[in-house]
Amino acid sequence: MDSGKPSHRGSFGTRLGVILASAGSAVGLGNIWRFPTEVGNNGGAAFILVYFGFVLFLALPVMVCEFLMGRSSRSNTVGAWKVLAPGSPMIVAGYMGILAGVLILSFYSVVAAWTLDYTFMSLTNQLTGDQDYAKIFQTFVSNPWKPLVFLALFLLLTHWIVVRGVERGIERYSKLMMPLLLVIIVVLAVYAAQMPGAEAGLSYLLRPDFSKVTPSVALSAMGQALFSLSVGIGCLTTYASYFRRETRLMSSALSVCLIDTLVAVMSGFIIFPAVFSVSGVGVDAGPGLVFITLPYVFNSAFSTMPVLGYLFSGLFYLLLILAALTSSISMHEITTAFLTDRSVQKNVNKSENYGLPRRRAARIVTLVCILLGTACSLSFGPWKEYTLCGMGVFEWFDYVTAKFCMPLGALMISIFVGWYMPHREVRDQLTNWGTLSVRLYGIFRFLARWVAPLGVAIVFLNELFYGTTK
Ligand code: PFF
Repeated sequence: MDSGKPSHRGSFGTRLGVILASAGSAVGLGNIWRFPTEVGNNGGAAFILVYFGFVLFLALPVMVCEFLMGRSSRSNTVGAWKVLAPGSPMIVAGYMGILAGVLILSFYSVVAAWTLDYTFMSLTNQLTGDQDYAKIFQTFVSNPWKPLVFLALFLLLTHWIVVRGVERGIERYSKLMMPLLLVIIVVLAVYAAQMPGAEAGLSYLLRPDFSKVTPSVALSAMGQALFSLSVGIGCLTTYASYFRRETRLMSSALSVCLIDTLVAVMSGFIIFPAVFSVSGVGVDAGPGLVFITLPYVFNSAFSTMPVLGYLFSGLFYLLLILAALTSSISMHEITTAFLTDRSVQKNVNKSENYGLPRRRAARIVTLVCILLGTACSLSFGPWKEYTLCGMGVFEWFDYVTAKFCMPLGALMISIFVGWYMPHREVRDQLTNWGTLSVRLYGIFRFLARWVAPLGVAIVFLNELFYGTTK
């Protein structure tokens, strides 16, 4: 456990760096692409309220647990279990984190690849005018090689940042990209709210209809909350292993949740008013929502001022790329750190620790994700026919990780920290060895011991007995 000695593994240099890097992991395609898609598929405002509940009572306490495990063990997601719970079967949560991290990064990069292409198209003015945007999207995603080029490009960009290390790579680029992202999103939200007919979109987001909340909707909201906050697979455990002794775990977690939720809600405020201001466009367009609906919306809404349409769409896709990158580096880091770390414990078998140079570790992760991402990407085109239970590779990766691995990981993490981790260590970590107030400690403990595990279990069981898959 943390001895207070400086770590050889690198660390975040500043408090702002900690918050922006962690918020960078949280804020991503999950907020701007997945959140509106889920809201559209699950009935609007009621889904959002259920989502808020999961953020506050489940994702936030589990995030604090992950921070705690990471800083206490100073190790990656698998190493943390080895250090804190030696010999325990709970280590499977660590390996599941590695697997889920790789799977998410693979399908995530496919959407990021579409975004790269759309940024390019919108900057070169190809997304203007009266065109069939559904067809443009379909033609692009089903092209056998073009999305793959962008996929590789995106993963190489991620690789390039990760290889630079914690402070000079992850922290530096998060500090650069996150403020830019926040400015762009505020500008876009202000614009969208002024579009003609935006009220219908706002009321869709603000008037809940609770009859729409079914077990599957609850499962989707839980999956979305965990996905959006990067919780349950040890991503934040890995980041927290780079935190310093002075970092305040609870207030950092609160800031990250706040930023992430604000960005998700603001994306809703950008997308739905825009969608509703143009008739004939469905809110439940699925993964294509921001790629089919929005170009169409940008053009119709700004038909008299095409320059604004051009600027709006260029900024929007740029926003999406920045958000995707700050998250993809965090997913990449989960496995890179696992392959790079050397044992911090004397009693751990040497052969279990890879201790690879960072460059080589990152290369392995990038390569594996390019291969798996290729399979996901092809499932929109030449491999469209290969489905299992009606879902292709891409959908399976998303389903297994968000609705299975993340909730299960969150369950194990909260049970471990709430019930098994030495009380003293938890308290020391949360109060920075007695230097911070203990006011929120009791609430945290209650949430971690009872609310979070029971919440996950109830949603799981409910879905199992009364829900329908997907
Ligand atoms: N939270 C990210 C998003 O909302 O886009 C996705 C994500 C990042 C999931 C890191 C999991 C993870 F470990």
